[in-house]
Amino acid sequence: LWPPLPPVLPTAQKAELLRRMDEAEVSKCRKCRLCASRSNTVFGEGDPDALILFVGEGPGETEDQTGRPFVGKAGALLDRMIAGMGLRREQVYIANVVKCRPPGNRAPLDDEVRACTPYLVRQIETVRPRVIVTLGLPAARFIIGGVATMSGVRGRWHAWRGIRVMPTYHPAYVLRSYTREVRETVWSDLKQVMAEVGLKPPPRRED
Ligand code: URA
Repeated sequence: LWPPLPPVLPTAQKAELLRRMDEAEVSKCRKCRLCASRSNTVFGEGDPDALILFVGEGPGETEDQTGRPFVGKAGALLDRMIAGMGLRREQVYIANVVKCRPPGNRAPLDDEVRACTPYLVRQIETVRPRVIVTLGLPAARFIIGGVATMSGVRGRWHAWRGIRVMPTYHPAYVLRSYTREVRETVWSDLKQVMAEVGLKPPPRRED
């Protein structure tokens, strides 16, 4: 189905490819209806050599206003998840299934996902992370395919073109269901990711 992954590029070339894709394509994209209601496209950001690439669903209101991924309430929790892994946001890469905000924060429609995800695929091909962490169902569905429920896939390793994939809950869901059980579930998923990339678990978890 997929061709083999292209060769890994030097950091500066990765950064340039990503910058050009954003500037020349994504920021001007009109491939689906979401372009009509967006304020800004949200390309994604982070270390072009990141070991871990997070895939969210799509921009919310704050992201649409700022043009940056995960900068609202869900973003604050994602920042804490990243910090809990002993990393800074600049050390990972953060992208979304769709680059424009769906009106009223509805889930992206199938045709919107089809139109937009070639950008995400090129981001992943360029960054070449060791692990992809999908946040929530739309990201898991696109990366793994044929996903029915989050409970059916989260916490177990999957693969996308040879890259290890760990699905977990979306931080917005964690905020809506803020129980110890849900938080510990996400943390156990992230600990598997840390082990995979050789990060030592911190002595104590930050809630
Ligand atoms: N939720 C997402 O899925 N992505 C963002 O960038 C922000 C919130």
